[in-house]
Amino acid sequence: MSELQSTSPMIEARALTRHFTSRKQTVEAVRGLDLTVERGELVALLGPNGAGKSTTLRMLTTLIPPTSGTATVAGYDVGRDPREVRRRIGYIGQGNGAGHNQRARDELVSQGLAYGLDRNTARDRAVELAASLGLAELADRKVSTLSGGQRRRLDIAMGLIHGPELLFLDEPSTGLDPQNRANLQEHVVALRERFGTTVVLTTHYLDEADSLAERVVVVDHGTVVADDTPDRLKAVHASDRVVLGFRDHADAACAVRRVATAHPRAAVRHDGTHVYVEMGGGTFAVPALLADLAATGTPTVSVEVARPTLDDVFLNLTGRSLREGTGTDQSTPSETEEVVAA
Ligand SMILES: Nc1ncnc2c1ncn2[C@@H]1O[C@H](COP(=O)(O)OP(=O)(O)OP(=O)(O)O)[C@@H](O)[C@H]1O
Ligand SMILES: [Mg+2]
Repeated sequence: MSELQSTSPMIEARALTRHFTSRKQTVEAVRGLDLTVERGELVALLGPNGAGKSTTLRMLTTLIPPTSGTATVAGYDVGRDPREVRRRIGYIGQGNGAGHNQRARDELVSQGLAYGLDRNTARDRAVELAASLGLAELADRKVSTLSGGQRRRLDIAMGLIHGPELLFLDEPSTGLDPQNRANLQEHVVALRERFGTTVVLTTHYLDEADSLAERVVVVDHGTVVADDTPDRLKAVHASDRVVLGFRDHADAACAVRRVATAHPRAAVRHDGTHVYVEMGGGTFAVPALLADLAATGTPTVSVEVARPTLDDVFLNLTGRSLREGTGTDQSTPSETEEVVAA
């Protein structure tokens, strides 16, 4: 590996664009997307259905060419050196699935052989990965008898068999129950600590992006609308919500004026005996606020502080909620639909 390849970012995409033409209509699936991922990072692409997450991964994994723009992965250009890129990455697609009739261990070894490992190395690696992913006791079972969560872990082991520097996971936990999802997340974190693998995953789960990823790249309509740590995204693009309760309406009415004066940038309203405040850094402002209100004769009788979620961030950035879903017009067409690159 040249010095450039070992010191350059693991992923560098600039103005990445991909159009599809389907039934004479052009879909701009990815529109000028910029993305940099450093070596060893765990990054989540978060966005609604049809945002362009899978299409982005498919370009970065060399499965489809960009319509325009550039991307280097592990220091190699996806267009000029697709083979070099592929040797260094693992990719677990959306709804992938290992074959059903083989035993889990054989499935892993076959995948290793397909990636050019010799049989001994493939076997050793299969044993090591099965242990890392909690599959050791299941290695002799047929894939068809594994649970959804176990199968997804096997998919991940298959993506890692050739020791890639970079692993792409497209919605690894979709369809799993909360327990299996948590278990899969633990495995992803452990793998990363053990092998130092850079991980890029896509998810619809806000809590997953929040707790698992060091960086969240929010994608909407084929472009990046925000890119930062979950904490900074929430601090910059959303507010804490503080609800203060008072003895009576009169106190609440006085308190609204007091809070609005003390925090001119906060959104303050009152409803009955409650005052609702939306403000950045509300958690830290509350003690002084309560002391001030008590000192001026309108003591609070209750207080609630809600931290923002990534959904609040998405709502503030796009005017839409990720939780609501985004209708059907953007959904990915079925495999059988005729599709050509524009
Ligand atoms: N092969 C294709 N032919 C035509 N249009 C496509 C094709 N693949 C994706 N699209 C369209 O491109 C847009 C982005 O799709 P993509 O699958 O990248 O979204 P996504 O963010 O992964 O969504 P999801 O969360 O549903 O997986 C969608 O409007 C989709 O219908
Ligand atoms: Mg997708």
